[in-house]
Amino acid sequence: MTGHLYVTRQLTDDAMASVAALGVPVVVGEERPPTTAELLRDAAGAVAIVSTLTDRVDAAVLDAAGAGLQVVANVAVGYDNVDVEAARARGVVVTNTPGVLDGATADLTLGLVLAAARRIAEGDRFLRTGTPWVWGPRMLVGLDLSAGATLGIVGYGRIGRAVARRARAFDMRVLATPTRSGLTPAERDAVEFRELPDLLASADVVTLHCPLTPQTQHLIDAAALARMRPTALLVNTARGGIVDTDALVAALTAGRLAGAALDVFEDEPRVDPRLPALPQVVLTPHLGSAGGATRSAMCGLAVRNVAAVLAGSPPLTPV
Ligand code: GLV
Repeated sequence: MTGHLYVTRQLTDDAMASVAALGVPVVVGEERPPTTAELLRDAAGAVAIVSTLTDRVDAAVLDAAGAGLQVVANVAVGYDNVDVEAARARGVVVTNTPGVLDGATADLTLGLVLAAARRIAEGDRFLRTGTPWVWGPRMLVGLDLSAGATLGIVGYGRIGRAVARRARAFDMRVLATPTRSGLTPAERDAVEFRELPDLLASADVVTLHCPLTPQTQHLIDAAALARMRPTALLVNTARGGIVDTDALVAALTAGRLAGAALDVFEDEPRVDPRLPALPQVVLTPHLGSAGGATRSAMCGLAVRNVAAVLAGSPPLTPV
């Protein structure tokens, strides 16, 4: 089929109704992450691709779509799954969905901070398996957030700032890596800026909110983990590739890091089987933006970007 829209199966019903209103034939992707062959097949001849994180829109997919392709609208704020340079070289616009998922992602982050610090998931498993309750030293004692715990935010962008606001409500001291983007006085005052090595060494909980780029690939490697306190926790709701999983598993296994809470993984949807085997690790399946209103806003924005480009107008949120 030529001149169609390829859309990820993840679009919400309201966004699918907006897609239908564009009056262009639609090919809907698989329920699971598509294989390369499926994506090449479904993208062939497309004028627009509405993709998500598990659609790898690389040069081959762009070439399969061909000269008629005008826009790749990614339903995510991150766009490491799209070869933006290859798209630019072919005159294809790439868009993402910034600004509509900050609150949802920050909410989940605080949930994971709490789950790891107060051992909520461990406690849940404890009861489900019928383990007899113990009080005293052997009970599930965790980290008190509101007794002066320090949160270190790596990446003080929109999501990092939303995390800082929430952490302050828990009376945490908040550190953040320095940022160049424009901050309000309140956003500047909410945190103490620290370079990464110092932040890693000073935080009780480190949370990642930077994009995955060649510069941040394995930013949290063995050396970075060695800087963290053995009592510290690592939370990742950004991208799996920012953390070297081998180094993380080694640090946790050796007791050089107390715990981790991970919503993202290096090779999604695969989860390294060593992680679920560690009781001090909390795992969620990339739920950062998975709030009903948030998903609707993200999908709606992606479709509006497609509509704008196909109508010859500038996209709302180009990357
Ligand atoms: C989710 O991971 C996003 O990038 O929006």
